[in-house]
Amino acid sequence: MGVFSAADHLESAGHEQVVFCQDKATGLRAIIAIYSTALGPALGGTRFFPYASEADAVRDALDLSRAMAYKNAIAGLDLGGGKAVIWGDPQKIKTEGLLRAYGRFVESLGGRYYTACDVGTYTPDMDIVAKETRFVTGRSVEYGGCGDSSVLTAFGVFQGMRAGAEQVWGAPTLAGRRVGIAGLGKVGKHLARHLLDDGAEVVATDVNETALAWARESYPQITLVADTPALITSEIDVYAPCALGGALDDDTVPVLRAAIVAGGANNQLAHPGIEKLLEDRGILYVPDYVVNAGGVIQVADEINGFSFERARMRATGIYDTTRQILQLAAAEGVPPAAAADRLAEHRMAEIGRLSTIRLPHRP
Ligand SMILES: NC(=O)c1ccc[n+]([C@@H]2O[C@H](COP(=O)([O-])OP(=O)(O)OC[C@H]3O[C@@H](n4cnc5c(N)ncnc54)[C@H](O)[C@@H]3O)[C@@H](O)[C@H]2O)c1
Repeated sequence: MGVFSAADHLESAGHEQVVFCQDKATGLRAIIAIYSTALGPALGGTRFFPYASEADAVRDALDLSRAMAYKNAIAGLDLGGGKAVIWGDPQKIKTEGLLRAYGRFVESLGGRYYTACDVGTYTPDMDIVAKETRFVTGRSVEYGGCGDSSVLTAFGVFQGMRAGAEQVWGAPTLAGRRVGIAGLGKVGKHLARHLLDDGAEVVATDVNETALAWARESYPQITLVADTPALITSEIDVYAPCALGGALDDDTVPVLRAAIVAGGANNQLAHPGIEKLLEDRGILYVPDYVVNAGGVIQVADEINGFSFERARMRATGIYDTTRQILQLAAAEGVPPAAAADRLAEHRMAEIGRLSTIRLPHRP
């Protein structure tokens, strides 16, 4: 790789602001990326991950913050998109001091960015971050927080999947369908429960023995298969990627048996163009950031005092939003991923523009 410059990335990516933070004493190295504040303060979690290089960390922060802007816009939230990454191994360097130092950097942005949990950070971590900043959500229930966001993430995925089923089979239910879940983690487990309650058959896989043991004990009716390649080539009607990003790539799409893809994982399309490959194979791809917005709806609700019922009601709306996107895609002859992007961009432009109407009491 040649000389790395964050500015090179920014020019092509179009972000508003990227902040590099360092606290040598605790080993904190963080990057906070704000893609857009057109709709309100940027909201997005903090990923704590041992990136191979600073360039990888920057790229992830830029990609993830852009995705949050689209997700928050399409979820109807008055929030922009941002994300932070802490570069390092959380098992080795995560301490109270480091998290509090990070919280001070979040506070220094004065509310332009709200943080929350992501891979490698958990609700107790946000309780610690909250000692230094007001601009944090996803705290534990004891501290007035909304708790584990995977509850409504999975609920929203289920709603989006129902809309997909309606588009393909004419009825908004998964009853009698075979759904393959890759990843029985926090989201995958809740999703499995919704599907079983709806009368679906669930096939699943995970690389973690604890997750598999949970399935064997709690839901023996779930069929477990060896790995993701075995899952996607088996007789499934729906594929729900609920592990890591990049689940849909040039190798998986040609062999995928499902008629619908709808899952909780972020950034499922390994690269631009995969959405077209799915469409050419007649597979309905329900865009990831549309269906997995239940989690951000849950944490966003905490900002003004959390109500689970209100957040759940908003997450129910993912069914209508998904329907709207699928109908737009069909009407305009574009993949659903492109239709979702258009709707998100439209909302950012239309609602974001309102701040040009000057109000006397606001800057
Ligand atoms: N938790 C949320 O509220 C939320 C919100 C939006 C999006 N997401 C996304 O959903 C996905 C799952 O999140 P989570 O909170 O359930 O994470 P998690 O870490 O609890 O669960 C992920 C599961 O996937 C398994 N896994 C990893 N690699 C695998 C592989 N190759 N094959 C099969 N299983 C594998 C892990 O063992 C784990 O059980 C992530 O992509 C996350 O970014 C989560």
